[in-house]
Amino acid sequence: SRGISASYLGPVVRVRSGDTIPFRVENRLDEETTLHWHGLLVPSHVDGGPHNTIKPGAVWSPEITIKQPACTAWYHPHPHGNTARQVYSGLAGMMIVSDGADRDRGLPADYGVDDLPIVLQDKRFGGNGELVYEPGMMDIMHGFQGDTLLVNGVITPEAGVPAGIVCLRLLNAANARVFDLRFSDRRPFFVVAGDGGLLARPVEVRRLLVAPGERYEVLVDFADRRSVDLVTAPDAGHGPGMMMGPSRRSARAMELLMRFKTSPALKALVANLPRQLATLAEPDVKSAVARRTFELNSMMGMGMMGMGMMSRPGGGHDARHMMGINGRSFAMGRVDVTAKLGTAEIWEISAGGMPMAHPFHVHGASFRILSKNGARPAAYESGWKDVVLVDDHAEIFVRFDNPAQLNMPFMYHCHILEHEDHGMMGQFAVV
Ligand code: C2O
Ligand code: CU
Ligand code: CU
Repeated sequence: SRGISASYLGPVVRVRSGDTIPFRVENRLDEETTLHWHGLLVPSHVDGGPHNTIKPGAVWSPEITIKQPACTAWYHPHPHGNTARQVYSGLAGMMIVSDGADRDRGLPADYGVDDLPIVLQDKRFGGNGELVYEPGMMDIMHGFQGDTLLVNGVITPEAGVPAGIVCLRLLNAANARVFDLRFSDRRPFFVVAGDGGLLARPVEVRRLLVAPGERYEVLVDFADRRSVDLVTAPDAGHGPGMMMGPSRRSARAMELLMRFKTSPALKALVANLPRQLATLAEPDVKSAVARRTFELNSMMGMGMMGMGMMSRPGGGHDARHMMGINGRSFAMGRVDVTAKLGTAEIWEISAGGMPMAHPFHVHGASFRILSKNGARPAAYESGWKDVVLVDDHAEIFVRFDNPAQLNMPFMYHCHILEHEDHGMMGQFAVV
């Protein structure tokens, strides 16, 4: 396993809106990497995408100005064709953008006490406790999933919490698994923020889907002093499709992620849910200057013969290009879309008729979900986002407020990392 300034994962990096931070990223791997700030609204030359390569032994020093509302973001490598393996090995961390106003909003704000980072992952382990990453053809098709769940790098940890309201900052940092979260006693919990920041008011749920790359901040009330487990249902959206029959996992019941126990030593500071969190205007759909469509292709021009070819170890050369968007596999030298700085567009994303859900992510931009399969999105996903789980069709309203020159474009891609690495990614400039 590998980590960032740690043996596994990286530190939670906490930044303030308005700050300018001189980051220093030193590549001590024996291969090229990059470090992408997923969720930060920054110009492309400091975004850390595949063009911001850091050679082994080299240092990358981007200076980053935080000019966005409070949110939970994260960071992870993004090297061309090698993102899945590097992230799987442990290279990822949470970033918290704070504006110092959470306490005034009535939100828990005591980091590590009633404001907790929760990084969700799944792994496969070998006989010596080592991480195993040997994706076969089916792992590439459906994304590589593990049989062991980790929270903050630990198998089924226990957290001591105050007997009051606690904020959990959920981050799905798995390569491919969608978590279908709930509490073991089915208690309600309240979504207060999505990828890009606060919702207008807390949204009550008893179940929450969190797709790869997504973040949600949720409030949970532990005032009853009962111990309770955070569990996940099987990943229905990503089970093997029609070709494969029922998945191994679908037979299994709820899986344990972690346990919460109240601790008398911790003082409960928040007892009531805040009523109002932020003002969130309806997306100004009429201001959109363009409408574009993106079809995600999981098996471009491949019949069963092609699939046989892919099943050989290592996948072969062609596997790199087996997936794409609008019939084209990712190419570093091709800019697919050029948007105008300071404008908004409507993007329609479709899963190409395949029975699988894809978490579609856009760099350097924030969007609102307008519709999912023709219906309005759930209230908890109606705020600013940078990942949308598309199982059939979705429409998003995207704002382009960060520049990206033609020689240093931003990425949009499926956040199933095996799909991204195999070509389900495109590039856009903002000029
Ligand atoms: Cu989380 Cu293109 O990345
Ligand atoms: Cu990103
Ligand atoms: Cu995908």
